[in-house]
Amino acid sequence: MNIRIPSFEAYKSDYQKSIDNPEAFWSNIAESFEWKKPWATTLDWNFNDPDVKWFDGGTLNITENMLDRHLEERGDQIAFYWEPNEPGDANKSLTYKELYHEVCKLSNGLKSLGIEKGDRVCIYMPMTLEGVISVIACARIGAVHSIVFAGFSSNALADRINDAKAKLVITSDGLNRGTKHLDLKSMVDEALKQCDTVEHVLVHKHTHNDAPVVEGRDVDYQSLVDKMDDTCPATEMKSEDLLFILYTSGSTGKPKGVVHTCGGYMVYAAYSFQNVFQYEQGDVFWCTADIGWITGHSYIVYGPLLSGAKSVVFEGIPTYPDCGRFWAVCDKYKVNQFYTAPTAIRSLMGAGIEFVTPYKLDSLKVIGSVGEPINEEAWQWYHREIGKENCPVVDTWWQTETGGIMISGLGSHSPMNPTHAGYPLPGIQPVLLDQEGNEITENEVEGYLCVKHPWPSILRTTYGDHERCKNVYFSHYEGYYFTGDGAKRDKNGMYRIIGRVDDVINVSGHRFGTAEIEDAINTNDSVVESAVVGYPHDIKGQGIYAFVVVDAKNNRDAIEQSVSDSVADGIGRIAKPDKIQLVSGLPKTRSGKIMRRILRKIAEGERSNFGDTSTLLDPSIVESIIEKAK
Ligand code: WT7
Repeated sequence: MNIRIPSFEAYKSDYQKSIDNPEAFWSNIAESFEWKKPWATTLDWNFNDPDVKWFDGGTLNITENMLDRHLEERGDQIAFYWEPNEPGDANKSLTYKELYHEVCKLSNGLKSLGIEKGDRVCIYMPMTLEGVISVIACARIGAVHSIVFAGFSSNALADRINDAKAKLVITSDGLNRGTKHLDLKSMVDEALKQCDTVEHVLVHKHTHNDAPVVEGRDVDYQSLVDKMDDTCPATEMKSEDLLFILYTSGSTGKPKGVVHTCGGYMVYAAYSFQNVFQYEQGDVFWCTADIGWITGHSYIVYGPLLSGAKSVVFEGIPTYPDCGRFWAVCDKYKVNQFYTAPTAIRSLMGAGIEFVTPYKLDSLKVIGSVGEPINEEAWQWYHREIGKENCPVVDTWWQTETGGIMISGLGSHSPMNPTHAGYPLPGIQPVLLDQEGNEITENEVEGYLCVKHPWPSILRTTYGDHERCKNVYFSHYEGYYFTGDGAKRDKNGMYRIIGRVDDVINVSGHRFGTAEIEDAINTNDSVVESAVVGYPHDIKGQGIYAFVVVDAKNNRDAIEQSVSDSVADGIGRIAKPDKIQLVSGLPKTRSGKIMRRILRKIAEGERSNFGDTSTLLDPSIVESIIEKAK
């Protein structure tokens, strides 16, 4: 199956076709996949409900497209290389045939535990091959996976298990990340004190830390799969049946479960993978994301396997054992396409060129970036030092909700402009809207980034709360999908993403709602109220600044620590504030609304010029906050 666009000219003509007749365009692409039953209607849609159906009437199983259909042609080809956290430890690999059998065994194991089509399975795993196998095994039997990044706390895990009413949790005894070792299983045990839908916990022994076993509930992964048959029929799924739920933060406190469905997600994950990275058969692809984020879903698991690709799964972190690890791994596996986040690029750039020079990096053909806007300096460094000025940098803009890359260069075909994501992929119709919701048609403008026509992997709903999906994404501007981002379009029509325009902070490419962090801070008994804002951070892109009103007079350092702990408990260490300032009050309007605009300016380092402050109830509060600002 080759759905690769061969040139920029071909891109332009495909783009035009995809706009003129989206249904003909996508139906043509979809035909290169294996369907059990062909679809009757290519697209049915209405953004007001919202209701979007792609390839309705068709049935398939995505894993047959990822595994079975490759067996004959490339059964003995590597599907995954696995690189462990410790560079000296043995690496592993799986061919397509081996992966197929491992998946089938686990699928049978899941069935033996009573998991049926439509049941939700929560996956809370480190970056192991068993993590990837778990995802595919769910899809094979039609169970809906909900992967929770293994950096979220027990409380956050419990919330997600409860929201999805998960019947099974798949986890590992422990996790290695650089010098840190985490007892994952005990986090699950802790979470399950708050959950009553989970019948079993499947535990893969990875770190062999002798995690305690709950009799009757816990099942050992290896002993289970060892007993199972190594083939398993793939469950027939309707195109619009749920494939997975992935929780993501928004501007309200509670994360929402973004829902993706089988047919459309399959088509777009593969299409975007092959085109953005210009993946050619035999190439080695490496996406450094974690499978707990959408990037890992679409570009570690689904996109590459659907395309019969070889790729690398990496357990560790970019800075361990030193800041040359990424480059060592690129050389080791002769990586051709490398995909990472600006925050990693900035931190490795800061570590010094001596961590890059020992490596050849001569296998690289395309290097990618995702998760947040990439600043000019980091872009130039990446292009020069890693790509050796020979590799196009694909700055890929997309979201959990979009399922796949939306705006990006296509390998070396597209013109490049540093800090600009570029042009939309075929089938994607971005628009910039002004305050009133009117489309701005000219170039050299800035506006709210929306999309005006569905693409196959657009989110279908937010799990258990369709109204919320409508309110968050489809109500701001009637008839459009609203991304929450602001963007500019330059004189050539290339897009440059500015960042979120809602109360979402993007920390190292991860999204957190300010309200979500405030909720976690407010669970602390000493806290009266709090306000959280983002501020520019050299490495993380945005840092988290928390202004906290406390009622205790005791040790301020201890309170700061305990506020930080509250966030680690409520969400996870990844969301800990970079700065916590204890304040006597928050700047509020007479009607009691917190003036975040002022706090944002203070966090950004502004000490005067706060604009109109006449509506402030007590202007002296601002003075006192500035005095102790960090
Ligand atoms: C938000 C989505 C889907 C990738 C991982 C993050 C920001 C993402 C870019 C980019 C500028 C970007 C946006 C977007 N973002 N990629 N190339 N340039 N900003 O997924 O957690 O769903 O976050 O990340 O603000 O809305 P996510």
